[in-house]
Amino acid sequence: MPAHPVILAIETSCDESAAAVCDANGHILASRISSQIPEHQPYGGVVPELASRNHMTRLRPVTEAVLADAGLQLADIDAFAATAGPGLASSLLVGTSAAKALALACHKPFLAINHLEGHLLSPFISHPNGVQPGVALIASGGHTLLISLIAPRHYQILGSTRDDAAGEAFDKAGKMLGLPYPGGPQIEKLARSGNPSAFAFPRPMIDSSDHSFSFSGLKTSLLYLLPQIAGTLPGTLPDLCASFQQAITDILVSKTIRAAKALHAASISLSGGVSCNQHLRESFSKACQQARLPFHCASPQHSTDNAAMIAFAALHHLLAGASSPLEADIDPNLTFAPP
Ligand code: KG4
Ligand code: ZN
Repeated sequence: MPAHPVILAIETSCDESAAAVCDANGHILASRISSQIPEHQPYGGVVPELASRNHMTRLRPVTEAVLADAGLQLADIDAFAATAGPGLASSLLVGTSAAKALALACHKPFLAINHLEGHLLSPFISHPNGVQPGVALIASGGHTLLISLIAPRHYQILGSTRDDAAGEAFDKAGKMLGLPYPGGPQIEKLARSGNPSAFAFPRPMIDSSDHSFSFSGLKTSLLYLLPQIAGTLPGTLPDLCASFQQAITDILVSKTIRAAKALHAASISLSGGVSCNQHLRESFSKACQQARLPFHCASPQHSTDNAAMIAFAALHHLLAGASSPLEADIDPNLTFAPP
């Protein structure tokens, strides 16, 4: 028997239709993700209407599957949660409407969850000591955020990107290089056999005293470089990818370590889709070791969008006695409340 309360969460902020169940101890009893990447690949990016229509058809089977995986019935669920933002409006509406309908039918509470909070807490799913305070970096397709994680439900934004997100920079570079969407994993694959020092890409804002990021200059430098080296392609593709990946890695690691030192943080955590990148994970791990800081990283299955992180975040709100009204709106531009 699972420890109650048991939460069923739905995540549909972008192009993944996901559902998960977690128990009162934060153990993920079941988690499924129905990826739409093959459907969006021909368009080189996510098509919002296609994403929401796919959520409509996939959500019921995915939700039934996680209940079956966990060996539970709807009646065993104590609360229903869904991502309420940030994300694509039409995608968010499908997931929140589904979770609200389940909550209404089962006479159980509904929790509207911030997708960013899901990413933020994801490194601590299955952590024996729970959520640890420190400086947190969320690096995803939509966001690059440095956050002071004080405790669950208590966060302070330190800085964010002024233009593109880190994952967006990977994806735009991938597009320029003619790689399939999403560019991040493709660039990582090619970078494995490349020389990270072959091309001198800029590291914008790496030495700035604030905690902000900027990746658009890096993207532009690739755009200007490509016509100059057109004759050497595709042979130089691995070197290009390795050098581009190294520039993003250097910026993310350097700025996060600097923020942690400035705040005398107790640890560093890393989450979001870009944290799937093995080179980035290893670079963070090495830098944290040198700085004598514990390093917490989301597991690969909890790095890209998933519902386990939404269930885990919802648990902290539910245990604190919080829930959301069924009238709660979505917010495509949701962020954390300013300090
Ligand atoms: O967290 P996520 O699934 O969705 C958002 O909330 O945005 O992140 C998706 C992003 C995409 O930009 C994708 O290219 C990037 O994460 N990503 C990677 C890797 N795997 C996913 N970037 C670099 N290396 C990877 N291995
Ligand atoms: Zn995400």
